[in-house]
Amino acid sequence: MAQLLIVYHSRTGGSRQMAEAAADAAREEAETVLKPADQAGPEDLLRADGFLFCAPENLAAISGVMKDFFDRCYYPVLGRIEGRPYAQMVCAGSDGENATRQIARIATGWRLKEVQPPLIICTHAQSPAEILAEKHILADQLEQCREIGAAMAAGLSLRVF
Ligand SMILES: Cc1cc2nc3c(=O)[nH]c(=O)nc-3n(C[C@H](O)[C@H](O)[C@H](O)COP(=O)(O)O)c2cc1C
Repeated sequence: MAQLLIVYHSRTGGSRQMAEAAADAAREEAETVLKPADQAGPEDLLRADGFLFCAPENLAAISGVMKDFFDRCYYPVLGRIEGRPYAQMVCAGSDGENATRQIARIATGWRLKEVQPPLIICTHAQSPAEILAEKHILADQLEQCREIGAAMAAGLSLRVF
């Protein structure tokens, strides 16, 4: 059975809710493993047939914990996951573009195949208090995450990628 690996990091809950929504929908279509970035490693990547990465943008980059996941895994799996499909979701205050570019560059290095455009969800947090507060992703935004998860999982189980 095809396996989808969803790796995420979240500081204030937004990315976690997005990753969980995608995982809930994906589980209806394929075996789905949902892992926080600090608990995921090279063996998880090697075991999976496709990937969904989900992280916040922090200081115009993917969050440090998500970056650490890529740093730890990059060379151990280089050349061993080429051609596998991936998609990404970013939770941002108002931008998110740099984080998606960063993940895309890493994925290009691994020779992964992007099968869906990046999804950026903006929470519109502006002040320090808003930025540090727990996030609540809206139902229609979670639906977009569900669609990505379901499409990734369906594509994997039908082997269309
Ligand atoms: C230290 C820090 C830096 C941030 N930098 C950015 C940024 O560069 N661009 C942006 O759009 N949002 C930025 N944000 C806002 C977060 O991306 C936003 O709050 C998002 O919802 C966090 O996702 P999370 O709830 O999964 O942690 C920053 C937040 C923090 C805490």
